[in-house]
Amino acid sequence: VRVIDDPAALAGHLDARRGAGDRVGLVPTMGALHAGHRSLIERAAAECDTVVVTLFVNPLQFDDPADLGAYPRHPDRDRAVAAQAGATVLFAPSVEQMYPGHPAPPATTVHVTGLTDVLEGASRPGHFDGVATVVTKLFALAGRCRAYFGEKDFQQLAVVRRLAADLSLPVEVVGCPTVREPDGLALSSRNARLTDAGREAAAVLRRALDVGLVSLLAGERDPDRVAGVMADTVMDERLVTLDYAVAVDADTLRPPVTLHGDIRLLVAARVGGVRLIDNDGVRLGPPSDPSAEARRSASLAGASPAGTVAVGGGEPDTRRPEPAGGGV
Ligand code: PAF
Repeated sequence: VRVIDDPAALAGHLDARRGAGDRVGLVPTMGALHAGHRSLIERAAAECDTVVVTLFVNPLQFDDPADLGAYPRHPDRDRAVAAQAGATVLFAPSVEQMYPGHPAPPATTVHVTGLTDVLEGASRPGHFDGVATVVTKLFALAGRCRAYFGEKDFQQLAVVRRLAADLSLPVEVVGCPTVREPDGLALSSRNARLTDAGREAAAVLRRALDVGLVSLLAGERDPDRVAGVMADTVMDERLVTLDYAVAVDADTLRPPVTLHGDIRLLVAARVGGVRLIDNDGVRLGPPSDPSAEARRSASLAGASPAGTVAVGGGEPDTRRPEPAGGGV
């Protein structure tokens, strides 16, 4: 694996690889690579010839300097994991190389209106501006490519898709399924900070999503009621404090009046001092489609909460078992 720290050198190398006919894949990370990241890199390696993994702990997306300082850094291990998963290039710039005026904030930042002030954005002001800014820089340096992001950070994925479309960037954004522990807990670099008891309790996030999905399969179309059953599930777990549980439109991230189309269930909760997020999705057919009822009954008879879900007039949701990777 070739290690590059200079942004201009990365752009030059990728131009040359594209000139030689390579398809370029980009996997942006902040390091501390786990199996979720590995699955993103492997997917990029399966679909592209040159695979760049970026390792950059982006200060712009941290609102708390203590959080930034405590962020795990294992460059040697990350390099080995990335190479083994199929990366051909590691881009590991310093903060000064990415933001020459640092510690002064860059004069130009990227703000995605509408998607960034809700959910994670509500409790982490400025976080998504930081993410959007660094991702836009990485896209500018990478040039034409496919970029791989985990669905685990679903709001981040929505923000990245939107900025790539709005700014006409030559990047195809690929969302990849969440990688989970056997009990359903989504992989995250934060899981390492859970106590044994907290680790066990944290599986309630997956269970809450399953309860929400089952209520949808049973025909519930009121977003508040679906959110309510998810919230009740989380609140039943003594060691876990609910932050939010919602059923929203997957594109707008806002609850529609009635649930239909692409729906995302999202939960966030604190386990001890550790904040965890998770989500899952389903496509719902129109409420009035009579054939939907038959399909729904068939799905209900056969679907386990962790299985592929087909609801209403929608196509089977092949995005499960879910996504992984990334995120602070
Ligand atoms: O998901 C992450 O690890 C980060 O938010 C990203 C996308 C690499 C931007 O710093």
